[in-house]
Amino acid sequence: SLVPMSDILTKANEEGYAVGGFNMNNLEALQAIIEAAEEENSPVILQASEGAIRYIDMEYAVAMAKAAGEKASVPVAFHLDHGGSFEKVIQCIRNGFSSVMIDGSELPFEENIALTNKVIEAASAVGVSVEAELGMLGGAEDDKEVEDQDATLTNPEEAVEFVDKTGVDALAVAIGTAHGVYKGEPELDFERLDNINQKVAVPLVLHGASGVSDEDIAEAIELGINKINVNTAFQQAFTAKTRQVLEDPDVYDPRKICGPSREAMKEKVIEKIRLFGSHNKA
Ligand code: G3H
Ligand code: 13P
Ligand code: ZN
Ligand code: NA
Repeated sequence: SLVPMSDILTKANEEGYAVGGFNMNNLEALQAIIEAAEEENSPVILQASEGAIRYIDMEYAVAMAKAAGEKASVPVAFHLDHGGSFEKVIQCIRNGFSSVMIDGSELPFEENIALTNKVIEAASAVGVSVEAELGMLGGAEDDKEVEDQDATLTNPEEAVEFVDKTGVDALAVAIGTAHGVYKGEPELDFERLDNINQKVAVPLVLHGASGVSDEDIAEAIELGINKINVNTAFQQAFTAKTRQVLEDPDVYDPRKICGPSREAMKEKVIEKIRLFGSHNKA
């Protein structure tokens, strides 16, 4: 069955590795993620954004995730990625998510705390874990585009106060990554991450990890990151294979298109699991 994300991240925090928060946007993505996690004997955080839920449909999304949780030999958490409102979070919890993110990062500091606490009160009553975010990433997120100059990095003092006042299970920090395809080379603020990590004990989350180099990922894990979100890199792996398969004009069976694409995505998931150090940690 599905487990709360805190089960997975507490161990990662103690042992110093990171677990993937991998986005599922369709059945093939879910299969790629779960099969990779099983092959690598890794715990996994399967996550769906509001956009993915709209695309798949809530009932189908939850049914597929629950089936994966039942079938899988490794711990699987089913997590709402970037929940935008209290209502959406509650809807996901009622439908069977084992974990939620409430993204109040665009709100004033005190309002982010208040919204996060409202979510925690409801979620903790039913054993669902909560991720919150402090600071703002650049890049594309669903329909909204955050301008680079509006991306603000997480203030370590605020992180301390936020964690003290909320008791959140995991905290997403902004240290220079961006969602989606990068415009330039990302410059990660490792000093800031180190500072935050020394001040707060909760597992830290890195969003927008697709375009980050392997070296920088390794350093981020070294400095306390325990959950790493990947979406774009998997979409690119899937679609690159699709394009290649479609070069053959005689191909028309969706299974002959999506099957190889799923396999290509799975290889990319395995690569990330090994990089994050969660293999054989199930
Ligand atoms: O952080 C954002 C995720 O990559 C979800 O993206 O809203 O396009 O599904 P999406
Ligand atoms: P990327 O799409 O940049 O990999 O970011 C994923 C993410 O942060 C999901 O919350
Ligand atoms: Zn994100
Ligand atoms: Na940590």
